[in-house]
Amino acid sequence: PIIYALAVLGGYLLGSIPFGVLTTKLAGIDIREVGSGNIGATNVLRTGRKDLALITFLGDTGKGAMAVGIAFAALLSVDIATRQTGMALAGAAAFLGHLFPVWLKFKGGKGVATFLGTLFAAAWPMGLAAGAIWLLVAFTLRISSLSALVAAALIAPVGFLIDQPYPFVLMSLFMAVLIYIRHKDNIKRLLNGTEPKIGKKDKTA
Ligand code: G3P
Repeated sequence: PIIYALAVLGGYLLGSIPFGVLTTKLAGIDIREVGSGNIGATNVLRTGRKDLALITFLGDTGKGAMAVGIAFAALLSVDIATRQTGMALAGAAAFLGHLFPVWLKFKGGKGVATFLGTLFAAAWPMGLAAGAIWLLVAFTLRISSLSALVAAALIAPVGFLIDQPYPFVLMSLFMAVLIYIRHKDNIKRLLNGTEPKIGKKDKTA
């Protein structure tokens, strides 16, 4: 239990580092005032700063991967079921950290990059599948939120079908549900046809 508590605490703290807020702040931009107001790479791209969007994406995926990786390393000496549970808890906690960061009064992001990062580190075939689905939808329809929603919906069934460890399938399901909840406004915009395409600059940026 103490192992799990540490995995959750460590994961949460890592996940709560808001790379989108930090990188844009250094450039003198308040990302909360731009586009969707979200702190993720998609919204950072709306400022026109591709470099900052890339750093945000890599930071937000990297922190998720690191949370899982640290849990893996710390739990090397325990049995595999305990280790995988600890890794899944650390990943889920990092994801929650991104959504509800203590530093931003718990008003965080939508979790898509962190979801991808934790999946890559926990069960790379699931990370690959989620990334590929995201890219496929993004290249054909050019809408970030829709790409995330399709990837999130498919990832747990895919993980189950390709026999991935249950803790990671459950972790992906948990994240997928929260991704849908966080994309409530995006879903409304998708339904009434006003969701912007990837990279479209925001007038206020
Ligand atoms: O990763 C978040 C993305 O799916 C949607 O972002 O800024 O378009 O709401 P945004």
